[in-house]
Amino acid sequence: MKISFDSAAPRAEVLVVFAHSDGKEAFSLTNPAKLIDTAGKGALAATAKAENFTAKTGQVLSVPAAAGPGVRTVLLVGLGAATDKLSAADIEKIGTAVFAALNARKVASAAVVGLDDIKTADLDAAAVADHLALAMRLSAYRFNKYFTKSAKDKQIAVKGVTLVTKAAGAAKKLFAESEKIAAGVYLTRDLVSEAPNVLYPASFAAIIKKELAPLGVTVKILDVPAMKKLGMHSLLGVGQGSVRPPRLVTMEWRGGKKSQKPVALVGKGVTFDTGGISLKPGAGMEDMKWDMAGAGAVVGAMRALAGRKAKANVVGVVALAENMPSGSASRPSDVVTSMSGQTIENLNTDAEGRLILCDALTYTQRFFKPTHIVDLATLTGAVLIALGEDYAGLFSNDDGFAAVLRDAGAAVGEPMWQLPLNDNWDKAIDSTIADMKNISGSRYAGSSIGAHFLKRFIEPGVTWAHLDIAGMAWTGKDRPTVPKGATAYGVRLLDRYIRDTVEG
Ligand code: BES
Ligand code: MN
Ligand code: ZN
Repeated sequence: MKISFDSAAPRAEVLVVFAHSDGKEAFSLTNPAKLIDTAGKGALAATAKAENFTAKTGQVLSVPAAAGPGVRTVLLVGLGAATDKLSAADIEKIGTAVFAALNARKVASAAVVGLDDIKTADLDAAAVADHLALAMRLSAYRFNKYFTKSAKDKQIAVKGVTLVTKAAGAAKKLFAESEKIAAGVYLTRDLVSEAPNVLYPASFAAIIKKELAPLGVTVKILDVPAMKKLGMHSLLGVGQGSVRPPRLVTMEWRGGKKSQKPVALVGKGVTFDTGGISLKPGAGMEDMKWDMAGAGAVVGAMRALAGRKAKANVVGVVALAENMPSGSASRPSDVVTSMSGQTIENLNTDAEGRLILCDALTYTQRFFKPTHIVDLATLTGAVLIALGEDYAGLFSNDDGFAAVLRDAGAAVGEPMWQLPLNDNWDKAIDSTIADMKNISGSRYAGSSIGAHFLKRFIEPGVTWAHLDIAGMAWTGKDRPTVPKGATAYGVRLLDRYIRDTVEG
């Protein structure tokens, strides 16, 4: 699907126009819609009325043959009340609705007119067009590679959309950047959707190199001997039950000042989580192919940042392992020494995310000396109990930093909610045989316990936040800008955080 911007409407199969809601049952056409209505002798308004169209935000009505020559169909789209100032999220919701309506009708070409009439709180005309375009691009994602029979009808039908605005030049510039963010989102969705027999640590690492190295990202892949040398026995312990050995991958983007210390993004990449010897129940286990969504988000964010040549120094580090039960798997009660030197009693092999992340965190701090670390992990089922599929769990050793991330997430529709840390929960992971254990032994405050485990690996002076994204990685239903399936939660918020806070 090609998305372009123009100051005049080209010929297209469908013309998309807008209307405001006006009181309870009525609507008012914006100027371009009025022109069409007049040309068609009132057919557009009459049809809309007959169809009980009320121009609620994102409401779409298809009106055949109401338009002038060369245009077959008009799509009338609701903007809500004329007095409402639309937010970026509203525009994106509308963009998703427009794309869905076009695609469902198998429309090949469309022109969207009247964008400049949209009233917003703080967006100029170019930004409105950019958000609409980005929403359409993000909504057009499909993971279709394995369909051999129904491939054709699963393809996106829309071939080209032109957004008509007086700010076409500026919109085009903005959208060039948005396309890079979308490319990051697409990459993450591809990775998270991929089957675990195809995406495993070594193949994941190879994809990272192939995707990011050409963009100027320095990619390093640590294999098992390299990790042994570094003493990453916690990470290695998680991977030792699988015939597919673990990897640690680092991605360096140096777009900022030489003297500037980097920000680090660290991701959990369990390519499949059976639970190991602490085996998960069979029902729903297939969901655990997306237990690498944290790593997926880090890779997608790096792709976005490098793609748009962000003026920031950012390192991505992902810990990749497959958690399998086997004769070589780790046992509940195993004790390992992590790269940090701290010892860990592994009392539940299903609490494996923290075991791979701790070594990734130590490696990150030792070799990259970041000022800030954000880790992303599908770490606990408990975060779903607390926050459902509406918020990621946010933990931080710095409330100011937590607020920065929360604002970035809110701005791009990737919400999070801060949950507490507490010294009692830190004590709860003291072990009787080692420095710590990987579970508390209680079912309470499970997500905070996980965060506390990670916190023990954060060195003094480092600002750190942990995002538990177990509820956010995948969606069973279509949402604005997010078709059902892998969400790529984290990519847009990390890009936004870097853009707003790290870049000058
Ligand atoms: N990958 C899971 C967490 C998860 C659960 C992600 C559901 C997405 C949906 C993680 O490795 C895990 O198994 N966590 C355990 C921790 C427990 C053993 C302390 C859990 O949440 O049950
Ligand atoms: Mn697990
Ligand atoms: Zn897991």
